[in-house]
Amino acid sequence: MYNEKVMDHFMNPRNVGEMPDADGIGEVGNAKCGDIMKMFIKVDENEMISDVTFQTYGCGAAIATSSMATELIKGRSIEEASKLTNDAVVEALDGLPAVKVHCSVLAQEAVEAAIADYRQKKAQKAE
Ligand code: FES
Repeated sequence: MYNEKVMDHFMNPRNVGEMPDADGIGEVGNAKCGDIMKMFIKVDENEMISDVTFQTYGCGAAIATSSMATELIKGRSIEEASKLTNDAVVEALDGLPAVKVHCSVLAQEAVEAAIADYRQKKAQKAE
């Protein structure tokens, strides 16, 4: 059901794990399937994402899309990463079965949530 690239990211996910000193943490869940995704970002003084990790309790597509999402935003600016779409994640994986596209939305939402958390923490610090 999955193509080779998806299988590769599913079997050997990149950037897996917790990040104790993360600058932003995003946790999202899919109410329908119950899958949960957590994304951690480390942001440097130039607003660049210097490191990113994730933890996903979910299906193969959820794991593959979170893995690919981390690859796509690593080394990017917060601004660029905030424009990541689930279509871009699916495209980078050379496609997903139609019934699994919603899983990629979870990855995009986790990135968005981690960025929102980072921005909120930064604003709090500035106060
Ligand atoms: Fe739940 Fe894929 S089935 S995220």
